[in-house]
Amino acid sequence: MKKASNPAARAATLRKELAEHNYRYNVLDDPIISDAEYDALMNELKAIEAERPELITADSPTQRVGGAVAEGFAKVTHARPILSLANAFDSAGVRAWRDRINKYAEQNVPLLATPEALARYVVEPKIDGLTIVLSYTDGALTRAATRGDGSIGEDITHNARAIRSVPLRLREGARAGARAPAALSVRGEAYLPLKTFESLNAALLAAGDKPFANPRNAAAGGLRQLDPAQSVKRPLSVLCYAVVEWQGEGAPDTQWGLLEHLRDFGFPVSDLARRFESLDDAIAYCEAMIPRRDALPFEIDGMVIKLDDLRLADALGFVGKDPRGAIAFKFPAREATTRLLDVAVNVGRTGALTPAAVLEPVSVGGITISNATLHNYDDIARKDIRIGDRVIVKRAGDVIPYVAGPVLAARTGDERPVIVPEICPFCETPVERREGEVAVYCPNPDCPGKLDRAIEHYVSRGAMDIEGLGEKIVAQLIDAGLVADVADIYTLDKAALLGLDKFAEKKAQNLLDAIAASRQRPLERLLIGLGIRHIGEVSARDLARHFGNLDALLAASEETLQQVEGVGPIVAASVAAWGSRERNRALVARLRAHGIDPRQEPLPAGAAVVPDGVFSGKTFVITGTLSEPREAIAAWIEARGGKVSDSVSRKTNYLVAGESAGSKLTKAQTLGVPILSEAELRAMG
Ligand code: IVH
Repeated sequence: MKKASNPAARAATLRKELAEHNYRYNVLDDPIISDAEYDALMNELKAIEAERPELITADSPTQRVGGAVAEGFAKVTHARPILSLANAFDSAGVRAWRDRINKYAEQNVPLLATPEALARYVVEPKIDGLTIVLSYTDGALTRAATRGDGSIGEDITHNARAIRSVPLRLREGARAGARAPAALSVRGEAYLPLKTFESLNAALLAAGDKPFANPRNAAAGGLRQLDPAQSVKRPLSVLCYAVVEWQGEGAPDTQWGLLEHLRDFGFPVSDLARRFESLDDAIAYCEAMIPRRDALPFEIDGMVIKLDDLRLADALGFVGKDPRGAIAFKFPAREATTRLLDVAVNVGRTGALTPAAVLEPVSVGGITISNATLHNYDDIARKDIRIGDRVIVKRAGDVIPYVAGPVLAARTGDERPVIVPEICPFCETPVERREGEVAVYCPNPDCPGKLDRAIEHYVSRGAMDIEGLGEKIVAQLIDAGLVADVADIYTLDKAALLGLDKFAEKKAQNLLDAIAASRQRPLERLLIGLGIRHIGEVSARDLARHFGNLDALLAASEETLQQVEGVGPIVAASVAAWGSRERNRALVARLRAHGIDPRQEPLPAGAAVVPDGVFSGKTFVITGTLSEPREAIAAWIEARGGKVSDSVSRKTNYLVAGESAGSKLTKAQTLGVPILSEAELRAMG
């Protein structure tokens, strides 16, 4: 961490800033920076205070447990302080925690510090919601409270009652020894399921209101509603993970046993909790959850590793507000704010001019981002994104980062609107807007801006899948004059590649091998690779199955094409127009000369259709990022008799929408086509 030249002044500034952000987040539910940025400011202040303890003031945010108590709620004194958690950001941080507590335990509580007790851990998801403390007297829910400042919270009993998964009365007798204690206080995390969050935001947008920045803020608003009728409209869920108070016999002495007791009493407990006999296994589980987090129905910001032995954990006590016996393994944040420096224009292989955000570099989810997608110009206008704005950048899974929207509260008035281009920035041809489409197009088929996109598309995974031909190398090949269309890829030889910067023997050979392997790709992949407008995965497959080879396909008239099952007038017209162009015919001839001429047995129309599956007669469109490639999901639907199409129309029965769904989702909403999540689809099949 960099050292401040004047630590006293810097600490004062940080304190003021943190207090303001804390207020915005906890009281107004309207933060203007991300959690990760807040943490970074807090860590900077902690570092200064650690080095110069005389600078610590009573009002420093480092000296406080949690946030301010809002007006309007009755205050509740917690039976025991509601603690927080220390963070580790990687496996090394977790091992350092283990070493620290082992040493501390051996010195301070040697009798409890057995090797077994020190090596057994429970790992749970760290749900990104809000702490809720549920208190039961003689088995009945008597009070629910927020965390507040850790010792005094707010009485939200009326809202907790509205949470359906909160038991109003404890279940008893499910397990021997699990009798409900006379007084029990349970700690859990209240959260808004992602699906509820999305529909809530969609409804807010439709009503012209401001959407919530994330599910956590939406949940905070839901929990702290003075009017319970309002909180019912924001159905929260809860997962429980700790006991604050247990008066009476039978208190569990392990975390694992505690979770079992909670389940028995009827509390919702995460089924992702696991017990491990070694820290390495616990860490491996945490790491394995990183790629799985996108598939969960709620947001998690990490995993929590806890000592299983609760007597030992208790005896270890806490440092500040963090218990020694547990640590949060934080996942990289996937959201950050930064400045939008400019909006560049890219031209896609279809000629669509798309805006691209040029950002002040910022780390999002562990990766430095300086460019992000802005979808299209309509989206920019709808979200009122301006150059110079502070913007929220998000990255989900392996999806390209995108600009979610501006931070309106950070506007200075110096921001400039984004201008839709009137001429193509690459060839200066006047742009076109097409009926019913949001994109702006460069109509020039020879536009130099399209070449690299066309090649990138041809080599991409869903098309000819040539590994090692990334964006940079494509640009290198074009700049060196080695490639002027996709057929030129097959003219590359080792001598030419070795002449390029950063190409050695091995890299050149790997690329040549990958190019050679692409000759085996089936016709449908080649059809996708050629980038014919309106041809998607599904129509490419239908056409390939019907015609069997490129020549037969390109010889077909528009009428013949329309007779193919699943091919409508738009696709037919587009294929016919593509095939009639001289330069495309020449390209196909050159590809054939290089041995790219895939053939397959044509299938009679309808042969692949399952006649009486659950989805027979239904047409689906798939969009957004799902748990599997779209092809796999399409195959799953087809195996149940359904049809999958590329574009949404009135004939579409269902849209299956994954994360970051774009224009297809909007279109389905406009047409009133029912929208399914992947889970809903699977439940139907
Ligand atoms: S344990 C002594 N377990 O994360 C108990 N906390 O960043 C300390 N959280 O304030 C907390 N899921 O609100 C624990 N499985 C889990 C959790 C969890 C979410 C929250 C909790 C805590 C925050 C710390």
